[in-house]
Amino acid sequence: AADCFERGLLSGRHVLINAGPTREALDPVRYLSNYSSGKMGFALAEAAVEAGARVTLVAGPVNLPTPARVKRVDVVSARDMLAACEAALPADLFIASAAVADYRPTECADNKLKKDPGCEDGLTLTLVRNPDILATLADHDQRPRWCVGFAAETDDVLNYAAGKLQRKNLDLIIANDVSQPGIGFNSDDNAVTLIDRQLQQHALPHASKAKLARQIITFIAEHLPGSPD
Ligand code: CTP
Ligand code: CA
Repeated sequence: AADCFERGLLSGRHVLINAGPTREALDPVRYLSNYSSGKMGFALAEAAVEAGARVTLVAGPVNLPTPARVKRVDVVSARDMLAACEAALPADLFIASAAVADYRPTECADNKLKKDPGCEDGLTLTLVRNPDILATLADHDQRPRWCVGFAAETDDVLNYAAGKLQRKNLDLIIANDVSQPGIGFNSDDNAVTLIDRQLQQHALPHASKAKLARQIITFIAEHLPGSPD
């Protein structure tokens, strides 16, 4: 493959990436979240900069250093993340690597919740759906030319991933089998399959997230409309 890094194949492009988990507050000291580390998205941001892009990285709460020359915007909740991503438009490319919480508590209590004497048998939380950041940007007035999603699945990986590509009107989906030990969530390594709009599959075997990020950025840079040959 042509070296998209030496040739700066993304120079002049604005790349927007989101990464990490979101936190959905229950009260001032408690939240719902997930185990996403943000490593894949940060590696993608670094690779996009190395390919010459201007990069905005909207990050949930993660414990990672900001890659050189990346503009980082920190957020907490899914709704904050959506607002920060919309505020970063226009972009040529959007890569949604964040593990956005699908639901949030219906309301965040103003004060720390107390154990209620009437609740010895347990507590039922009511949740409402969060906005879908990727679907919103893929259907936006300022839609990025390429919208790329991730699909972390434990079963029927490629079918679920292809369904998300079509449902959210994406250009590419990166399918991730998180049932395999040692890859995916919170790991330094990963193995993915890229699925394009024609449902063509391109497998990228087990490698470090840094190496996979460069392979993913190379694939996108070579297929992005307006790329040099
Ligand atoms: N995504 C998003 N906003 C959400 C949920 C998901 O932007 N509220 C994005 C993720 O960043 C990812 C893609 O959508 O790029 C797929 O996320 P995933 O959780 O695999 O799919 P969902 O559509 O949430 O479906 P489900 O969790 O039911 O499998
Ligand atoms: Ca989800």
